[in-house]
Amino acid sequence: MSDAPPIPAVQTTGLTRMYGSLAALSGLDLTVNKGDLFGFIGSNGAGKTTTLRILATFLAPSAGRAVILGHDVVKDADAVRHIIGYMPDFFGVYKDMEVTEYLDFFGACYRIPSAQREKTVSDVLELVGLSEKKGSLIGALSRGMQQRLGLARVLIHDPQLLLLDEPASGLDPRARIEMMEILRELQRLGKTIIISSHILSELESICNRVAIIEKGKLIYAGPVQGVRDQMSSGRVVWVRVASDTEAAVALLKALAVVTEVTALDHKIKITLTSHDIDHSIIADALVHGGAKLTELREDEIGLEEVFLRVTRGETQ
Ligand SMILES: Nc1ncnc2c1ncn2[C@@H]1O[C@H](COP(=O)(O)OP(=O)(O)OP(=O)(O)O)[C@@H](O)[C@H]1O
Ligand SMILES: [Mg+2]
Repeated sequence: MSDAPPIPAVQTTGLTRMYGSLAALSGLDLTVNKGDLFGFIGSNGAGKTTTLRILATFLAPSAGRAVILGHDVVKDADAVRHIIGYMPDFFGVYKDMEVTEYLDFFGACYRIPSAQREKTVSDVLELVGLSEKKGSLIGALSRGMQQRLGLARVLIHDPQLLLLDEPASGLDPRARIEMMEILRELQRLGKTIIISSHILSELESICNRVAIIEKGKLIYAGPVQGVRDQMSSGRVVWVRVASDTEAAVALLKALAVVTEVTALDHKIKITLTSHDIDHSIIADALVHGGAKLTELREDEIGLEEVFLRVTRGETQ
């Protein structure tokens, strides 16, 4: 990675979409930089598809604007369509068509000269690992292969920005990993990629930056690591006592640095007010109070839990 300042590939300001009185998207300010593999995360109904469809010029915003590589998605929709590849969450599958026929068809739609199309089709199939399936009927491909074919289709005109709406949904773990590897490769080839998902951990390992939206509003945008730091309400420590659990809970609840204590058998979960607190305070309080401490360990909050905490019960 170079130290050059990032160049914005996508910028939205106050992007809003109303459906009657429902704000599917509400004042979204988002920047995705060139070269990002950007995770767009939200639970069902959060507004992911709405956002991606606006960026893909298929849906007009009710207010605000979005600019892609210098082109406004409303005013310069044609220019935008040439530089993006949009893979919808559900795409029509032409079951009775052969793989190459299908891609050749889309190549023709993008006015790729016929002399060049064969090579282009062959190249994108290679990229998504479907070279072996050139002559297969689409209906005979597995779900994972069909998803990869969908990806091949959006690559046919060599777009700079890929907008992928849940490309890994419904895939088994192996197919999911294959999909993620292809996305990594595309990033290496210089593409900017926005990928949506409702599974934070699915994107954790591949995305350099993520945004989390809920009820049409941005909750977080930034590096993946920052999600954990910003969203976790406090540090969690687990202890196990060999003495009376209720007495230990009472000792812990009396501490000012503790916000929550829950006990299950002899295991006690303690939430501290901040990350800076030294957990020896916990050990001291228990031991001095007469409890028999047998175990104390730190809980690394998984991104999944953080996400659930943030979005719990917030879906429209
Ligand atoms: N055509 C429409 N008419 C009315 N409401 C709509 C329409 N399309 C979307 N919505 C509403 O807008 C909100 C955002 O929907 P959107 O499809 O963008 O969410 P999403 O994050 O993609 O969800 P999912 O994970 O289920 O795909 C939802 O409340 C949805 O019901
Ligand atoms: Mg969606």
